[in-house]
Amino acid sequence: MAEVATLPTLPAASERVVSGQLPGHNLDTRDQQYILPADAPEHRRLDLQQGLLTCVRNGLFLHKDGVHRALTPKPGNPKPVVLDLGCGSGFWTMEMAKQFPDVDVIGIDLVVPTPTSPIPPNCRFEQHDLNNGLSNYQSTANVIHASCIGQGIRDYRQLMDEIWKALRPGGVYLTVAGDMQMLDHNKEPWIVIEEREGEADFSYHVLIMTKFWDAMKAKGPGVHSFPKVPGWLEEMGPEMWEASAPEHVYVPIGPWQENMTEHDKQTAELMRQDMIKLQKVSAPALQAYGIPEETVKTWVDAARDELVNLRKHMFCHWLFTWAVKHQSASES
Ligand SMILES: C[S@@+](CC[C@H](N)C(=O)[O-])C[C@H]1O[C@@H](n2cnc3c(N)ncnc32)[C@H](O)[C@@H]1O
Repeated sequence: MAEVATLPTLPAASERVVSGQLPGHNLDTRDQQYILPADAPEHRRLDLQQGLLTCVRNGLFLHKDGVHRALTPKPGNPKPVVLDLGCGSGFWTMEMAKQFPDVDVIGIDLVVPTPTSPIPPNCRFEQHDLNNGLSNYQSTANVIHASCIGQGIRDYRQLMDEIWKALRPGGVYLTVAGDMQMLDHNKEPWIVIEEREGEADFSYHVLIMTKFWDAMKAKGPGVHSFPKVPGWLEEMGPEMWEASAPEHVYVPIGPWQENMTEHDKQTAELMRQDMIKLQKVSAPALQAYGIPEETVKTWVDAARDELVNLRKHMFCHWLFTWAVKHQSASES
């Protein structure tokens, strides 16, 4: 059985002491472009968001046949491996390990998570900055998952080359990201104008997401990467990726639509809870971006009220993409 490459495992987030951090953060943000926190409240939000994505996909991943094929152990072949890049709380990592007990599942992140439930024996976490590449993992993985990590990546197109090299032939790349541009009830971009505060076409939730997005853009181009992934896969060509498909999903924020099924209501409710938590989580980054603490607090309270009482009707746009590395691709 082939050994999987490992990187040195550093202490968990809760044990590390760092300086220069944003309030509520345990990452040193002076040299990191990633601006969300990496603490327990954020990890509980990510657990909830993974629950939402599981509902949307009806499972842990799309392209079910391809993933099952890639993860079926074959006599004479190395044990299948899944890499979860930017694994966050480790929710997806651990659920995959439970679903595939004969597969090694490795979560990689800037911060090693401290999960609230036992880590399955076939799962482990490693600390690594993806901006330093994946050279230690060349030709090791049968599935690579990257969910909502674009903001922390300096050159996502380059990371896709690294992902391709880290996959074994026939391996599956799975990625998903949510758009920070909120959509109105007609699925059109909702653009807020601050001067119109209080008017019918104004939303504090959209304002917070817009400013949070601005704060992310100020840190680098990573946040622009997710809509480009399907085009980059096409550009890399069929000799590298033998199949790929994007899937756009529009999830209502809260159960405000008429005639929703129970499943749709549950998904919309999870989307609403995720956004309410994200409003709070974004506050330190908004302050660091120069918005006064009192203003942020007023916005967060008003935005929460909008969603709790379903005063504003909007959608969040998610883009799921999967691709299969060509079976006859050379492994390096
Ligand atoms: C929004 S969270 C998503 C977490 C998880 N993939 C999920 O979908 O629940 C982004 C994660 O990517 C990690 N991350 C961001 N930039 C990174 C980098 N350059 N290297 C490794 N991890 C990174 C963050 O620490 C964070 O845990």
